[in-house]
Amino acid sequence: MKVSKMDERIHVLDSSSNVMSVIEEITNSGLQEEAFYVLDIGDIVKKHQIWKEKLPRVEPFYAVKCNDSLIVLEVLASLGASFDCASKVEINKVLEIGVDAKKIIFANPAKPASHIRHAANVGVDTMTVDNESELHKIFKFHQTAKIVIRIRCDAEIAQCQLGMKFGCDPIYEAPNLIRLARMMNLNVVGISFHVGSGCQDPPVFKRAIIHAKKLFDLAKELGFKPYLLDLGGGYPGNKGTSIDKIAEIINSALDDNFDDDVHVIAEPGRFYVASAFTLATSIHSKRSVRSDKMSPNSVTHNMYYINDGVYGSFNCLLYDHQIVTPIPLKSGCGKMTPSSIWGPTCDGLDLVVENMLLHEMDLGDWIIFEDMGAYTLPVASPFNGFPIPKVHVVAEEHIWLMLKDALPLSEDHFVIGNTPANLRLGLDIGGTKIDDWKNQPIDCNGSDMSDETTTTSDFIYDYVEVEPIN
Ligand SMILES: Cc1ncc(COP(=O)(O)O)c(C=O)c1O
Repeated sequence: MKVSKMDERIHVLDSSSNVMSVIEEITNSGLQEEAFYVLDIGDIVKKHQIWKEKLPRVEPFYAVKCNDSLIVLEVLASLGASFDCASKVEINKVLEIGVDAKKIIFANPAKPASHIRHAANVGVDTMTVDNESELHKIFKFHQTAKIVIRIRCDAEIAQCQLGMKFGCDPIYEAPNLIRLARMMNLNVVGISFHVGSGCQDPPVFKRAIIHAKKLFDLAKELGFKPYLLDLGGGYPGNKGTSIDKIAEIINSALDDNFDDDVHVIAEPGRFYVASAFTLATSIHSKRSVRSDKMSPNSVTHNMYYINDGVYGSFNCLLYDHQIVTPIPLKSGCGKMTPSSIWGPTCDGLDLVVENMLLHEMDLGDWIIFEDMGAYTLPVASPFNGFPIPKVHVVAEEHIWLMLKDALPLSEDHFVIGNTPANLRLGLDIGGTKIDDWKNQPIDCNGSDMSDETTTTSDFIYDYVEVEPIN
């Protein structure tokens, strides 16, 4: 398969490089201004290996909504993953990379009629339902659908609760839905749930599996042949987190309640992508607040304005309740000052970090944010004209060797070597003489700044010393 867009290529790193060194090379060029992501596809591969090892009975259907970047979908498809789609567009996106319709679950319990009709047309048969009217819609538009009843079973602590919107009560509502489906001659094939995204209550999976088991039994009594148990999402994905405890509880609850002939799937989103994306932002403006009346010249707070904010990648602060940690690329020294970090738009809501102690930073300095892969890019908007950061995709050599012939990936998806010319692909790094890229002096009003390309002087401004105004 040919890749048409150069910026979607995966850059194969040499053995001495990694995500941070790539970020340093790009930012040290002095020619990159916009915020950008580095996506390490090796991180996604590693997550898949962890999933297979920890949850061997559970087939992952990646939740496309979490991050629908084409390359993420292609990498996961090449690893053999299946997909959870929430809409017609997501279904098409997955089908277009060559995934079989049978490897898609339409896991939105409230679907527009046209989307159900589309699913029927393209052969996506398995879909979730949590209400009567959805059954009637399916009766009208996709009578041979394989219906999965979504029940509610909420984690006591979760980053994003979903139960107030989706999932029928497993005791009072689900049995009636299954009965109604029987009367309508529809086919109930299983039970699903979503305990809440970013679940911090592992035992909830056991509670949900037990509910599902009872509903399986009821469905069998009513003459159905249920075979599908869908464990939904909820698995953490940030660096330093682990699914060990959740996996242990799931595996033992499955052993206790479900025979091997039941097909167990899950819809992990953040688990697969959160840690694979690292965001690099730069400071374009700074305000030093002097609010101490006793010593009016001393700075009490620094306000840094960076080129991505809550209307862009940091929408995750509002919608996904994420907490982000700024990592200044240059390690600072000396006194730390209370500081805040703001996005680039004119909205006062556009606040990324409210108050933390940071070493003094300057215009042009870079701030890195790790774990930015989940629920960031698909929601971002270019409000106020600030672009959504582009993604620079990298892989280590062994990942390239593993994936280069694994459809839908192919040799054409990769560029070997992180040379300046390669690093430049897809980003906004300026200049046409790519061979001279690294040491390219910036000509500022005719002055040669070649000695200063790796310092903050990449930013072209001068301070003028002034006396305090009395
Ligand atoms: C139906 C469904 N499945 C899966 C997911 C993915 O959840 P997570 O990212 O917590 O794994 C979501 C997230 O909202 C969802 O709504």
